[in-house]
Amino acid sequence: MRQFLSVKDVEDLPALLEEAKQVKKTPFAWKHLGENKSICLLFLNPSLRTRLSSQRAAANLGLEVVVLDVNAGSWKLEFGNGTVMNGDTAEHVKEAAAVIGAYFDLIAIRAFAELKDKDEDYSEKVLSAFVKYCGVPVVSLESATGHPLQSFADLITIEEHKTTARPKVVLTWAPHPRALPHAVPNSFVEWMQVADVDLVVTHPEGYELSSDIMNDLKPEYDQKKAFKGADFVYAKNWSSFNEYGKILSTDPNWIVTKEKMALTNGGKFLHCLPVRRNVIVEDAVLDSDQSLVIEEAANRIVSMQTILKRMLEGI
Ligand code: CP
Repeated sequence: MRQFLSVKDVEDLPALLEEAKQVKKTPFAWKHLGENKSICLLFLNPSLRTRLSSQRAAANLGLEVVVLDVNAGSWKLEFGNGTVMNGDTAEHVKEAAAVIGAYFDLIAIRAFAELKDKDEDYSEKVLSAFVKYCGVPVVSLESATGHPLQSFADLITIEEHKTTARPKVVLTWAPHPRALPHAVPNSFVEWMQVADVDLVVTHPEGYELSSDIMNDLKPEYDQKKAFKGADFVYAKNWSSFNEYGKILSTDPNWIVTKEKMALTNGGKFLHCLPVRRNVIVEDAVLDSDQSLVIEEAANRIVSMQTILKRMLEGI
C-alpha cells in the first residue's frame, strides 16, 4: 500500500478486516517491520484520538515516531503556485514536504477543511501537496473531505458487534453550535457502501452530502423512520454542502435520545468523538450499554496499525 487517503486505496476490504482482527489479537507480532524505520505525524489541527492512537499503533510496529504540530512549532506554509512570498508564509510546501520526506520513511497528516471555499477544500490542497512533494507513503489522519482511519475503525467495531450478517446502519445528522466539515460523514458513507451493510442516511433538508459521495443513495428526511430496526446508529453533525459551510439548522429535535434508540433493533450507538453531550446525543444513551464509543475509539489503534503494517510490508 503506497498511500491511504480513502477507501479507494483498499483493494480488498474483507481481507483488510481479517488482517485487522489478527492485528488486534497479536498487536506485537509485527514489531520487526518498523525496525530502523520512522514516521512523522503532522498535525495542522487539534486531535486527541488520532494523535495518541497513531503513536500507539506505530510503537506496536517498532517504528520511531515524531509528532509535529505544524501551526505551533514550524514555519507557516505556502501552498500557492508562483506566489510572491512576501507575506506571512515563510516556507513553501514544495520544500517542507520534500525535507520531511527525506527525514522519514512514512508521513501521516491531518489538515481539516477551512469551510470557506468548497473547490479549494475538495481539491485537498494540503494533502495533495504532501503526496506530490514528499516522495514517501502518506496516510490521511483526516483531510478536508475524508477521515478514512475513523471509518475503518467504525467498520471494525460494527463487524465485532453485529448480530446479523448484513446489519442496518444509520448515519444521522445531529445538531451542533459550530460549522463542522464533511470528512467524517463522507468517509463513513464511502466505507459503508463498500461494506456488507444496509446504509440509511438521515438529516434535515439542506444537509445533503455531495452526490459524488452518496452515488444512488437517497437520504431519509424522517429521522424516526430511519431509526426503525437499526442495528447501529452513527451520529455526526456536518455543515451544509450545497450552501457550503453554513449552519442551516440547530434543531434540538435531531438529538439522539434513549426514546429514539428504543425504535432500533436493540441498536448500538456510535460516534467518532469528541462528542458534545446533550447536544448531539443525550447522556442516557452515551452512558448506556448501547454506546460503543469507547470500543470504537480503541479500534483507532487497530485501524492505524493495520494500515501501517501494510505500508511497511511494501517498502
Ligand atoms: N475521532 C477523531 O479523529 O478524534 P480526534 O479529533 O481527537 O483525533
